[in-house]
Amino acid sequence: MAKKVLVTGGAGYIGSHTVVELIRAGYEPLILDDYRNSDPSVIQRLKQIIGKEPEHVVCDVCDQNKINEVFQTFDISGVIHFAAYKAVGESVENPLKYYSNNISGLNSILTVIKRNPQIPFVFSSSCTVYGEPSGIKEVDEKTERAIPTSPYGYTKWLGEQIIEDLFTSQGDLKMMSLRYFNPIGAHESGIIGELPVGKPNNLLPFITQTAAGLHNELTIFGNDYPTHDGTCIRDYIHVVDLAEAHVKAIDYLFAQQKGCNEIINIGTGKGTSVLDLVKTFERENNIKLNYAFGPRRSGDVIEIYANVDYALSLINWKAKKDIKDAVKDAWNWEKSIRHLK
Ligand code: UFG
Repeated sequence: MAKKVLVTGGAGYIGSHTVVELIRAGYEPLILDDYRNSDPSVIQRLKQIIGKEPEHVVCDVCDQNKINEVFQTFDISGVIHFAAYKAVGESVENPLKYYSNNISGLNSILTVIKRNPQIPFVFSSSCTVYGEPSGIKEVDEKTERAIPTSPYGYTKWLGEQIIEDLFTSQGDLKMMSLRYFNPIGAHESGIIGELPVGKPNNLLPFITQTAAGLHNELTIFGNDYPTHDGTCIRDYIHVVDLAEAHVKAIDYLFAQQKGCNEIINIGTGKGTSVLDLVKTFERENNIKLNYAFGPRRSGDVIEIYANVDYALSLINWKAKKDIKDAVKDAWNWEKSIRHLK
């Protein structure tokens, strides 16, 4: 029988793509979401891709009683925990919202995991835990974690710490944190993708919305950084590759006889500047994008990209897609939701 994997935040951007890849790999995902930051229509969209409505429950991940009930009702074999807030700027304005949701959500799931150590647990972490790398910009998992620059960053930093402390206290747990670099793109079908609420903070959704006419121009935050073209450098990872990494992570954990707590970078290993991404978007989609240089955005890291050797050696995963695929898929998705040709 297919193993049931609980996907908290499974209606969200990365969660929904992971649901598709779990089905493809023979798992039975159970989406847990209260749609506060996603749209219930994603369930029907997923049906279009996978041929059946995925199982789903409406539940606040922080509600310990309801979470206990979900585990009593369903025969859950594994958990992938996405449900969390993720807007860096909003977290600075409203830190308590981030600390209460992101930490208590993790806590309520781990409370159940602690009682059921046979259930593998995968956590969404972020390269934000590295801060601004000093010296070498390619970071591996042994690179020292930095003091986070936002409450959002602290919730990921603390999330990893909570998992480590729990593992220290109980070594039979099977846990893995995936440190995502910058997820971009959409499913190649154009049926699911990112649905930012309000004005997007992230680069590619702002690019696609500008191309679709929702904004007059993209502001590139700073062109005087010490990089090849003066703009910041990130490691942009296609969301479908990232989704596959979750499948490999849970495969790995299911295969373990003993407890483990692993941390892995999930990126491409390549740095791309803001201007590189804009130009790739223009070239691949044959679109002229309106953009202008503006002042630096406070808190931005200058340059960071992943060393991805450990992901390959431990879970046999590496990115298959590149930024060309991502900018095409993201534009395809934007056109489909805006009903553009
Ligand atoms: N950028 C612009 N204009 C925009 C939006 C972004 O120039 O309108 C630039 C940013 O200044 C940055 C780059 O595009 O140089 C990428 O910015 P994003 O906001 O897309 O991504 P970040 O790297 O700032 O943030 C991402 C994730 C966070 C995570 C962080 C870790 O969104 O969840 O990486 O570094 F915490």
